[in-house]
Amino acid sequence: RRLSRDPATSQPLAYLRLRRAIRNVVEHRDIEPGQALPSERDLSRLLELSRVTIRKAIAGLVEEGLLNQRHGAGTFVAERIIKPMSRLTSFTEDLRARGLNPRSEFFERGVGEVTPEESMALNLSPGVLVARLHRVRYAKEEPLAIERSVVPASILPDPMVVHDSLYQVLETLGCRPRRALQRLRAVSLGAQQARLLHVPVGSAGLNIERRSFLDDGRVVEFTTSWYRGDIYDFVAELQTD
Ligand code: GLP
Repeated sequence: RRLSRDPATSQPLAYLRLRRAIRNVVEHRDIEPGQALPSERDLSRLLELSRVTIRKAIAGLVEEGLLNQRHGAGTFVAERIIKPMSRLTSFTEDLRARGLNPRSEFFERGVGEVTPEESMALNLSPGVLVARLHRVRYAKEEPLAIERSVVPASILPDPMVVHDSLYQVLETLGCRPRRALQRLRAVSLGAQQARLLHVPVGSAGLNIERRSFLDDGRVVEFTTSWYRGDIYDFVAELQTD
């Protein structure tokens, strides 16, 4: 995204520069999740910026889910992963923004004939081929989610090229999704899922179904995920009509 510029100097506005600087600090783990940021007053003195600028930069990062504020206690780097629902981002991008290095362990990465359910979700005729990716997604050694993605083989002929980020591969194929429909449902994790996610059986999980589209209306992916409920918050900005 382009930053707004100061018309006089054509520099990004101070609060946007500060926002980027704080994002960098979090990304590089110079401040760990759960740790406090210096107070508004200290930041203002240290950086020689007005408190209005500091407040504006922080408010933006709170909205993005990178920081949270506890009344009277200060501003902290978010411990849970807070995911804005209105942005079409990938698992890898969400974790990298928090200074975490994502990794996948695959159960399945292959091509096969579309099932009736998949053909409905992907808008495909019976008999065509799809690429399937079934994997557990980790940050360091900690499993965070299980994901099963189906992509038309006309878009992704060889799923073996996906090692980390599906969206990154789709981007190189010129098929990065532009729009998605997503449904979230509360579930309690069954024995197998709980074992894979290293949580007790019956723990809370979020079942997420995402169908993503290209500009021309083709469906790129149909992904069903189980995210750990003890780690993820999904947030959305709401507006009146
Ligand atoms: C999220 C979405 C999935 C999507 C995935 C891509 O987890 N819920 O629908 O397939 O991101 O992530 P990556 O590009 O890291 O593979």
